[in-house]
Amino acid sequence: METLETPIKKENKNGNPAENNNSSTTMKALVYHPGKKAWEDKPKPIIKEPTDAVVKILKTTICGTDLHIMKGDVPTVTDGRIIGHEGVGIIDEVGNAVTNFKKGDHVLISCITSCGKCEYCKKAMYSHCVKGGWILGNLIDGCQAEFVRIPFADNSLYPIPEGADEEALVMLSDILPTGFECGVLNGQVKPGDTIAIVGAGPIGLAVLLTSQFYSPAVIIMIDQDDNRLNVAKTFGATHTLNSTNENATEKIMKLTNDKGVDTAIEAVGVPATFELCEAIIGAGGHIANIGVHGKSVNLHMETLWSRNISITTRLVDTVSTPMLFKTVQSGKLEPKKLITHRFKLEQVVEAYETFGNAAKEKALKVILTNE
Ligand SMILES: NC(=O)c1ccc[n+]([C@@H]2O[C@H](COP(=O)([O-])OP(=O)(O)OC[C@H]3O[C@@H](n4cnc5c(N)ncnc54)[C@H](O)[C@@H]3O)[C@@H](O)[C@H]2O)c1
Ligand SMILES: [Zn+2]
Ligand SMILES: [Zn+2]
Repeated sequence: METLETPIKKENKNGNPAENNNSSTTMKALVYHPGKKAWEDKPKPIIKEPTDAVVKILKTTICGTDLHIMKGDVPTVTDGRIIGHEGVGIIDEVGNAVTNFKKGDHVLISCITSCGKCEYCKKAMYSHCVKGGWILGNLIDGCQAEFVRIPFADNSLYPIPEGADEEALVMLSDILPTGFECGVLNGQVKPGDTIAIVGAGPIGLAVLLTSQFYSPAVIIMIDQDDNRLNVAKTFGATHTLNSTNENATEKIMKLTNDKGVDTAIEAVGVPATFELCEAIIGAGGHIANIGVHGKSVNLHMETLWSRNISITTRLVDTVSTPMLFKTVQSGKLEPKKLITHRFKLEQVVEAYETFGNAAKEKALKVILTNE
C-alpha cells in the first residue's frame, strides 16, 4: 500500500536531485470513490524507492476490470485510489537503482509489477511476485493520470523504440498477454484444432488474434453482442454464435459431429459461460479460464471424470510481453484494430460512459491521450 513516506533524497543519473525535476507538485487523475469517480487534483508521484521510476503518461486506456472496480467489486481498491493499469509514457525521473531507463525514454507499462528476484518471479510467475503482481490501479495509484510511479521499473517497464506505433502498444500492457498466456498457451491450441472462445470482449478478441499464431482450423466465437461477433468475424473467427438467440451447446456439438472442441476458452467470468465450456469440451480437451469470477461455478465431474480433460486458471504473468512486442512491431499482430474510440485524458469520465455502454456505443478499447 502507498504510504506518506518522506521521499528518498537521491540523485538521478544526470546528477540532479530526483524529486526536483518538475516544478509542479500536483497533477490530474481519475480517482475512485465508493459509488463515484472524479477527475481530481492529486499530488504528483515521487520516487519512494531507488528501484522506482515516475512515468509521464502519454496514452492509457480503460479495462473491463476498471468497470468492476467502479462497481465496488474489487475490495482491495480503496477510497481515493487512482485507477488504471495500462499505458505508454515517457520516463520523468528514475531512482538511483534503475539501470535500464533514463529520463526521456519512451516505455510500455506492464499491468503486472514484478521485482524479477523473488521465488515467483524466478519461476516466471510475475503475477505472484511477493512485492508486486497486479498492484497498479489496485493497491497503489495507477495509470489514468498525468504521472504514475512504477515500482521495480527495470522489470516492470519495456523500452519503446523510436517510431513505434504507441497506440497499438497500449494493447500490450494487459489484454494481449492475458489472452495469449491464460487462453492460448494454457489452452494448448495446436494446428488444425477446433477451439471455442466464450466472450468477444477485448480479452476474447485478444485470444482470437493470438490463437492464430498456431493455425487452429475452426475458431468458434460466442457472445451476446452481435457487433462484437461481427468484429470477431473480421478478425478470423470461422463461426460466431449469439448465445441469447441460439442454444450454443447444441450448435457447437452439431458443428463438431458430437465430439466437442479441443480447447474451450472462458473470457467472461460468470458461471453460465464456464459451464458452457464444460458442456462443449471434447475428450482430451483443455478448458482455459480467463474470466474473473465472483461466484462459485458447478464442476460437472459426473460427465467430465472420464474425458481426459484439463482445466487451467491463471492471472496474467506478462512474461510473453517481449515476444508479443516483436509480433506487433513486425505487423504480424495488429492490435490497433481493437481501438474504437479516442479521447483526451481529461475526458476520462466521458470515456468511462462510452466504454461502460459498449454494446450501444460499439466500443472495444478506448485510447486516452495526455496532451
Ligand atoms: N485472468 C486474468 O489475468 C485477467 C486479466 C484481464 C481481464 N480478465 C477478465 O477477463 C474477462 C473478460 O474481459 P474483457 O475486458 O474482455 O470484458 P468485457 O466485459 O469487455 O467482455 C465480456 C464479454 O462477454 C460477453 N458476455 C457476457 N455474458 C455472457 C454470456 N452469458 N454468454 C456469452 N457472452 C457473454 C459480453 O457481451 C462481452 O462482450 C473479465 O472477467 C476480466 O475481468 C482476466
Ligand atoms: Zn486489465
Ligand atoms: Zn518478484
